[in-house]
Amino acid sequence: MRAYGLSTNGTNMQSFLENETFGSFISNEMITSSKELVDHPCFVSKKPWKKCSYITRNEVQEALSSAKNASNDLKSLTPYEKRQLLFATAHHLRQNKDLIAEVITREMGKPILESLGEVLYAASYFDWFAEEVVRVYGLSIPSRSPNKKLLTSYEPVGPCYFVTPWNFPLSMAGRKISGALAASCPCINKPCLEAPISKLLLAYCIKKAGWPSGSFNVAIGEHDVINEVLLPSKDIKKVSFTGSVSVGKYLYKESAETLKKVTLELGGNAPFIVFSDANQVKAADELIVAKFRNTGQTCVCANRILVQEDVYEDFVEKIVARAKLLKVGNPLDKETQLSMHTHPSTEKKVKAHIEDAIKQGAKRHLNSKAHYEPEILTEVTPDMLCFKEETFGPLVSILSFKTVEEAIELANSTEYGLASYVFTSNLKTAHKMADSLDFGMVGINDGLPSAAEFPFGGVKDSGFGREGGPSGIYEFLYTKSISMKL
Ligand code: SIN
Repeated sequence: MRAYGLSTNGTNMQSFLENETFGSFISNEMITSSKELVDHPCFVSKKPWKKCSYITRNEVQEALSSAKNASNDLKSLTPYEKRQLLFATAHHLRQNKDLIAEVITREMGKPILESLGEVLYAASYFDWFAEEVVRVYGLSIPSRSPNKKLLTSYEPVGPCYFVTPWNFPLSMAGRKISGALAASCPCINKPCLEAPISKLLLAYCIKKAGWPSGSFNVAIGEHDVINEVLLPSKDIKKVSFTGSVSVGKYLYKESAETLKKVTLELGGNAPFIVFSDANQVKAADELIVAKFRNTGQTCVCANRILVQEDVYEDFVEKIVARAKLLKVGNPLDKETQLSMHTHPSTEKKVKAHIEDAIKQGAKRHLNSKAHYEPEILTEVTPDMLCFKEETFGPLVSILSFKTVEEAIELANSTEYGLASYVFTSNLKTAHKMADSLDFGMVGINDGLPSAAEFPFGGVKDSGFGREGGPSGIYEFLYTKSISMKL
């Protein structure tokens, strides 16, 4: 076995972070050659922090060549060598978790304890694929011809292009990259410009783990510059994107010309359904997690809270009481649960949804003073924006229903289909709901089903393809069928 594994030479992450200027990561080196540097202030203090050198077209070409050149090196690794490298990457992420968490919070404003959780979440994907990579089996298929042997094996699809979002800047990239590297696919990641440095820290961990140079490249810069090189390229075999429906459709269209494989994870409008037979305390506790994680800025965020009419008043009371206790503040403080620094788009959306709902007769319960504070609306109807659109902020929109059938109809009346949640103690209702909800993921009495071992993905306008879970590695492999005449 070759000596890939934990390497202790080179800089440590602390001194790497002392750089003032950051840039793209190509062939295991950071490139900061651009003459024009872009300010990257701290999102929390709004003060000057770092500078970024944006990638040029030529450098994107270099990243592409780097990924292409890494293909054979990656393919020559045995599953057991990759297992070791994946575990080593997870180890470096965990070893540097406090530093990485602080960078995540400084880049996009997530409460620091959640950033810490995100680092561990990202590491868990590397652990998961380390275990999966040694269990990818081919088949021997009985043939109808007596003199033939039919076999299948798996091959890497080839270099991949990943476009990743600001709301989970480390784990959404980690979820894609861990599966790709397990399958021996080199990749280029275009991070959102809000949070590029956390991706470089992932690159740092991948390099430290000892992956072949070019296995993972980060392209930081304007999307036109990067897309114009990578999307028409025949050398990119797969595109995976997490983000908005409009960008997802654009990437899908652009990938058609060269028939790239595509995975899309595009927003949600999750129903959170509480039946009167559910444990109401548990349902209320889980709603707090499903709604307020990342200050409501998650694709799997509970968006439409449907409560059966006989427990409606009582459930609203429970949520109001819990929401009042949430600590809103500076995300760098360990006590903070809701961050006062949300994405600029969140403020507009939250305000518009509250205004529209009030105009149409909804009742406001907390009189929040700012868009990042929790707010609860009742008497919500399907005509309101907060029902029709994903709010992506700490607004709880509640409406009541009478029957199982009505709950299913309301829940499915959206073009989205990512996550859904059901609270009931009746096994029959639980199964019926799991079968009837048009969503890629259903949490039954579970407000946080996301995990590396759980296939993550949606249906309808929420996209297609699954990340993580037992099928995650196969998204980066194709089946080779071998017919052998004896
Ligand atoms: C998201 O909702 O944006 C992803 C969060 C997760 O993996 O749970």
